[in-house]
Amino acid sequence: MGFVRAVQKTTPFDGQKPGTSGLRKKVTVFKQLHYVENFVQATFNALSEKVQGSIIVVSGDGRYFSKDTIQIIIKMAAANGVKQIWVGQNGLLSTPAVSAVIRNRVGPHGEKATGAFILTASHNPGGPHEDFGIKYNTENGGPALESLTDKIYSITKTIKEYYIAEEIPDVDISKCGTSSFTGPSGPFSVVVFDATEDYVKLMKHIFDFVAIKNLLLRPEFTFCFDALHGVAGIYAQKIFVEELSANPGFLLNCVPKEDFGGGHPDPNLTYAKELVQRMGLGKTAPAAEPPEFGAAADGDADRNMVLGKRFFVTPSDSVAIIAANAVGAIPYFKAGLKGVARSMPTSAALDVVAKALNLKFFEVPTGWKFFGNLMDAGMCSVCGEESFGTGSDHIREKDGIWAVLAWLSILAHKNRGVPAGGKLMTVEDIVRQHWATYGRHFYTRYDYENVDAGAAKDLMAHLVGLQSSIPDINKMIKEINLNVACVAKGDEFEYKDPVDGSVSKHQGIRFLFEDGSRLVFRLSGTGSEGATIRLYIEQYQSDPSKIGIESRVALAPLVEIALKLSKMEAFTGRSSPTVIT
Ligand code: G6P
Ligand code: ZN
Repeated sequence: MGFVRAVQKTTPFDGQKPGTSGLRKKVTVFKQLHYVENFVQATFNALSEKVQGSIIVVSGDGRYFSKDTIQIIIKMAAANGVKQIWVGQNGLLSTPAVSAVIRNRVGPHGEKATGAFILTASHNPGGPHEDFGIKYNTENGGPALESLTDKIYSITKTIKEYYIAEEIPDVDISKCGTSSFTGPSGPFSVVVFDATEDYVKLMKHIFDFVAIKNLLLRPEFTFCFDALHGVAGIYAQKIFVEELSANPGFLLNCVPKEDFGGGHPDPNLTYAKELVQRMGLGKTAPAAEPPEFGAAADGDADRNMVLGKRFFVTPSDSVAIIAANAVGAIPYFKAGLKGVARSMPTSAALDVVAKALNLKFFEVPTGWKFFGNLMDAGMCSVCGEESFGTGSDHIREKDGIWAVLAWLSILAHKNRGVPAGGKLMTVEDIVRQHWATYGRHFYTRYDYENVDAGAAKDLMAHLVGLQSSIPDINKMIKEINLNVACVAKGDEFEYKDPVDGSVSKHQGIRFLFEDGSRLVFRLSGTGSEGATIRLYIEQYQSDPSKIGIESRVALAPLVEIALKLSKMEAFTGRSSPTVIT
């Protein structure tokens, strides 16, 4: 079927600035006439000569409005000179799977994709009145760097027209296969493929599936994976059930839904309610004996939460434990780790492991793209963030299913000699053993969501002001007299990328205590309404007699100081946070 390149007049929209993870807005905003088209055209214009004859991937977490957007992007890609579009069946591909597809999938003549439009708003709710998002990932499989997103944004401010091939009918994305068309610059086709194929192949290359399968086949090992109705469900079904023979009853909410079943697809103790309840961490007793291992992923399956029976593993501990055990437990790492990295607000648990194992270590600003640079330069193998992100250099995104497989590998490895029916080492045992070896970083995060943007800015300015009066802060601390160490230093985190030399400023306000405790304040870069203030609280304890204290109790004094110091309630009007993790 033939088509022509139609030119459609348009006018700019305000605020099409992609944040940390693409353009994220309410569906109602995206549904405005020409809104999607303007942003997509701006991206093509910013990519300029890379577009002609390219292969572009388009898919996402399956949230509401994805299917319409895929059809729009197909028609616009054709008109902009793209040669082929790759779509995961039903428009689904997890963010990590997109990264794997860009890096590993090849066309019939060995061609690779130039990049991808990922349709997701990650862990934000979906549905007609909730969030939608478009994120562009580049050749290395990672999110576009600021140089490109700035260019896209500046083009959106002056855009006057976009190109579209109206004659191309909506492509049936529910079936695998190729649809071919002929346009002014030659043939154009849309290939719909199995959304799990490339990702599963990669996971099999990384992990010892036989060892994991043997663990899952043990009757005493029980597991629960909650996809929160996000795209992780299709990978969980394929990998855990079909490849690794897990009991299908281990899967919870694994059918992707456009509105995530009305829930908030964010794997944390607040939003993954059903899993939390099943694992014995809910407010009431669970209906049955909790499973040994529990995990959840977010809407686009890049985030993860790991739980043991009645036990929460902090994301900061999770990456440290994976790094400490990777070489023995995961075949992909058997030659050793090239280095490890964490984001600044993530606890220093990983630092201690890096030091003990003599590994290169990096502390980067929040945002996965900073890890990508280190990985491209061969400096980092394992990395993680407090925001429930864990991953490795197998792709350039964090990876929820990978994290679950990493934990299953560690569990399989630690229990390899345990005879049938013997007592298995649990998730909690592994974490406690880790603390006994490396010390424990008590850690918590308070989120104040949807705060008035002006108030949030004022609070941050107040904190910057305080940095020049550390003696006054210490006086206040002593007045409260809570057995807390003094503040040694206050600063704003700044990062110079060791690979490209770029400098990122204002990456969070820190108060560093003499005993290594930290208070960190930063504004979220991923919200779609108002401002979200995040407060991160951390304290290191190496005394074995004290590492077993309940985290909430250990951190109470620091929490009190943080709230007083920041005048949180006075600035925001909030007497308590929206979410505590
Ligand atoms: C996304 C990024 C993460 C980052 C997180 C921060 O999920 O992929 O790398 O940690 O955003 O979110 P925040 O809301 O704290 O800016
Ligand atoms: Zn996500």
